[in-house]
Amino acid sequence: MKVLPDLSKARLLVVGDVMLDRYWFGDVSRISPEAPVPVVKVERTEERPGGAANVARNATALGAQVTLLSVVGDDEAGVRLRELVEAERVVASLHKDASIPTTVKLRVIGRQQQLLRIDFETLPSHEVLADKLAEFESLLADCDVLVLSDYGKGGLAHIAKMIELARAAGKIILVDPKGDDYSRYHGATLVTPNRSEMREVVGRWASEQDLTERAQALRRELGAAALLLTRSEDGMSLYQESGMLHEAAKAREVFDVSGAGDTVIAALAAMLASGAALPQAMHVANCAAGIVVGKLGTAVVQREELQAALAQEK
Ligand SMILES: Nc1ncnc2c1ncn2[C@@H]1O[C@H](COP(=O)(O)OP(=O)(O)OP(=O)(O)O)[C@@H](O)[C@H]1O
Ligand SMILES: [Mg+2]
Repeated sequence: MKVLPDLSKARLLVVGDVMLDRYWFGDVSRISPEAPVPVVKVERTEERPGGAANVARNATALGAQVTLLSVVGDDEAGVRLRELVEAERVVASLHKDASIPTTVKLRVIGRQQQLLRIDFETLPSHEVLADKLAEFESLLADCDVLVLSDYGKGGLAHIAKMIELARAAGKIILVDPKGDDYSRYHGATLVTPNRSEMREVVGRWASEQDLTERAQALRRELGAAALLLTRSEDGMSLYQESGMLHEAAKAREVFDVSGAGDTVIAALAAMLASGAALPQAMHVANCAAGIVVGKLGTAVVQREELQAALAQEK
């Protein structure tokens, strides 16, 4: 595929756990008088949307129209997360739950090394999740593809109901899974585990043939049209009823692989919403992932970069 289709008509609804990735960079020159720990004098900070918010911004970078539905706390981090995604053209419906903090992963970095990571996370309350489900029903009508980005933080408590509603409405449903119980993803169109997520749910495979059997069995059990296994430096494999299709990884330089899975599902969703078939969508997603791993930080791929990379293919 040399020409990237027009993705500007693609309408995605991204639902899942959002988080704010924070980085505090500083200088370490002394040990604290209070405890045997280094003192970091913070000199620079960085913030990036993570989880489902990163999926959403990856999709808008490719030109798609994206609504993000999730829960945040009634706090400064929640406000910041909204500002960050809105600046990237994501329509954000972030329900505020005053009883929880916004999920934040704060890294403290001194002398080029991570000294500490501090996580703030609490499961959202039932009331807020119920409100979110009610809004989900009205947002669903205006999308072509539903992306469920499960980071295991409790925001997808009603996932089975969401899949049921989306299926009844004839939508394409993509799931980025977590954990070892995939029964709650039953009825999805496509699930995209990475290697370790796959191992967690089907166990260790002994050979490629064994993997294919396990992947196909899992796919059938879920009633899914496809299962896309992302395999880091080994590319990705697509399992469908018609068989298996593999693509090698595209990356020439690898700087930072974090967030590559978010880029993959965002590109797949934008392509499928534009009417592409699964093998073409996988090809574009693999190409996008190959670009994003060459960038530092949880980066995104712009439509123009992806277009240029595809045009260079033989
Ligand atoms: N080391 C690598 N070299 C080349 N390509 C890579 C590498 N890591 C990732 N990729 C590309 O990114 C895709 C997704 O990566 P991976 O399977 O690691 O997803 P992931 O574990 O869900 O990522 P993350 O959770 O960090 O977002 C791969 O299928 C491949 O195209
Ligand atoms: Mg992932």
